[in-house]
Amino acid sequence: MNKEKGEEEELVNIDEKGNYENKEKKEVRKSKQNLKLSNLLLLILLLIIIIVIYLIYKYKKKCHIELIIANNYEEMSKRAADIISKLIKENPRAILGLATGSTPIGLYQELIKQNKNKEISFKNITTYNLDEYCDIPQSHQQSYYSYMQENFFKYIDINPNNTHLPKGEGNIELNVKNYEEALEKHKINLQLLGVGRNSHIGFNEPGTHFDLGVHVVKLDNKTIQDNSRFFDNDISRVPKKAITMGIKNILDADTIILMANGTNKAEAVKYVMSGIIDENIPVSSLNTHKGKVYVIVDKDAASKIEYNKSN
Ligand code: GLP
Repeated sequence: MNKEKGEEEELVNIDEKGNYENKEKKEVRKSKQNLKLSNLLLLILLLIIIIVIYLIYKYKKKCHIELIIANNYEEMSKRAADIISKLIKENPRAILGLATGSTPIGLYQELIKQNKNKEISFKNITTYNLDEYCDIPQSHQQSYYSYMQENFFKYIDINPNNTHLPKGEGNIELNVKNYEEALEKHKINLQLLGVGRNSHIGFNEPGTHFDLGVHVVKLDNKTIQDNSRFFDNDISRVPKKAITMGIKNILDADTIILMANGTNKAEAVKYVMSGIIDENIPVSSLNTHKGKVYVIVDKDAASKIEYNKSN
């Protein structure tokens, strides 16, 4: 039935316009079809190009992390210190974000040495620390304020007015606001980080939103337990709250150095290097950083990196 109808239509064409015109029409139709096909191919090609560009961008985003595996703690400290002293030489007015804990002690000693040798000067350097305990006075031996004086500031030529730590006493809400405002005004050129066994950075415990600024935090039990070694192994003496830069503040820095040594940090280091992004693993936020990230570790801390194992 349909076939008959088709034949009828073709006959009508022959009758009305003749064979020659009908062929021409067919050719026009054909070339229109070809045009449609080439447009479709062009569109597919464009889509492929967009996907390739996206993949390259994604790949590059992961590769902004530079992994340095040092043979030991001393070498790790020296490698990190050299990156900081290079920055200070290039920009004597640089703003540094500093960290506490046992990890950066060797780095501070190396910077003190370079300052004593007049290789670098801190005269015009400004510093902002990551965090501070709440509910203990600045004068407490284990406050991060005391840590910074005892392990770094008192040995270098820095102007004390240019050194800043969040304040864990008094009006905490106001302290949070003031520190956030100060960080908004002063962009950190280089942020130094250690990492907790539970992968916290600063005092940003697992579950912290990556877009959070300066805030007060209730410390994780693991963190309290780990930090009790600085409080005569007495958990009851460890402060339960702290004030910390948020992950947003950390990620605002141009460059980040993450240092880690020892097998108890290997899991956290593995997460960073795997490229994972998960709010339950605070250190994984570094995989969203727009700038440069150096991950400087000793062999033990690098022992779980999958890339390392396959090489
Ligand atoms: C503390 C600090 C962190 C530090 C972490 C690891 O909780 N708030 O900034 O990175 O401890 O400390 P350590 O280097 O002693 O292992």
